[in-house]
Amino acid sequence: MQGFSCHLPAMDFVGYTLRNNLFVAPMAGVTDRPFRQLCKKLGAGLAVSEMVTSNSLLYGSAKTQRRANHDGEVAPISVQIAGADPAMMAEAAKYNADRGAQIIDINMGCPAKKVCNVMAGSALLQHEALVSKILTAVVNAVPDTPVTLKIRTGWNIENKNAPSILRIAEESGIRALAIHGRTRCQQYRGEAEFDTIAAVKAAAHIPVIANGDISTPEKAKAVLEKTGADGVMIGRAAQGRPWIFREIEHYLRTGEKLPPPAVSEIQAILLEHLEDLYGFYGTETGVRVARKHISWYTKGLSGSAAFRHQMNRLDRIDEQRAVVDDFFRHLGQRHEHLVYDNSAETGDEELAA
Ligand SMILES: Cc1cc2nc3c(=O)[nH]c(=O)nc-3n(C[C@H](O)[C@H](O)[C@H](O)COP(=O)(O)O)c2cc1C
Repeated sequence: MQGFSCHLPAMDFVGYTLRNNLFVAPMAGVTDRPFRQLCKKLGAGLAVSEMVTSNSLLYGSAKTQRRANHDGEVAPISVQIAGADPAMMAEAAKYNADRGAQIIDINMGCPAKKVCNVMAGSALLQHEALVSKILTAVVNAVPDTPVTLKIRTGWNIENKNAPSILRIAEESGIRALAIHGRTRCQQYRGEAEFDTIAAVKAAAHIPVIANGDISTPEKAKAVLEKTGADGVMIGRAAQGRPWIFREIEHYLRTGEKLPPPAVSEIQAILLEHLEDLYGFYGTETGVRVARKHISWYTKGLSGSAAFRHQMNRLDRIDEQRAVVDDFFRHLGQRHEHLVYDNSAETGDEELAA
């Protein structure tokens, strides 16, 4: 088919060979080890971990220890760190590299209040001298570990300084750059734009990964073409749909769209995902974290609003497992493949994690 290469080549990325150029975006509270493993199994080339604080006082906390747990994870293991103090960031990079991180990713893309209030994440983009200090300190702290950077297009519409951040990054020894096509001030409003990413890519000597609002195989292809980027990074569209990576991979390779997955396959994938979550978090937290994922997997499926309402009230893993199994068994009796009906979402309630 015209415009499609016959195979999606493996990607050479900061010294590692990835199966393709599809990246899972780091998402705090979402991209834990079970989710990263699942995305990799279902077609992602690389999954960046949730960010880990650079505050060493928190290294001992259960949350930070869990985030630094990579047992059994498919290489390369990329760990994201966040903070605004060059020395602390350097220490955090070293700490994580000593514990198995094969790539250190620096977060200058997250607009979260918790991160930006302490002047980290995307808030840093307006202080270029400090950006330079942080990047240099981190790169020098882990000479044997490639360091990558994730940014937004800039601080606000008037200050889209991604091109100067690229220059600083390259001078500091950063090996790849991921860009979310929004400014910090936009938060998640409006649509991601790709002109700035295209301009950065045109000037770059390091791989550039385009990110923002990529939710279909067609959009992934369009963004790759428009920006000339070396890869695409997908966040929210992978929530409850980790098989989106194989859908995109197949489309980029053949120009054809895969049919929606069989209900029985997703039932098996979700049940296995739940077991991983229970094992990783323990039963109590596992059930809570699983609710969020179950909610995403079932969003838009017929009868799912009532199902989620019921699900939110269950606290035991045997109940949760049984109700999920039951929901998909009944769905499978009506449809062989997943069918989304977004009108079925009216009046739905969001589940708390
Ligand atoms: C729940 C959530 C948590 C996020 N946490 C992080 C994070 O820890 N580090 C980071 O660099 N970006 C974080 N992001 C931003 C994503 O990596 C990504 O840049 C953004 O969601 C845009 O991509 P998308 O449109 O494909 O979701 C987060 C986004 C979401 C929705």
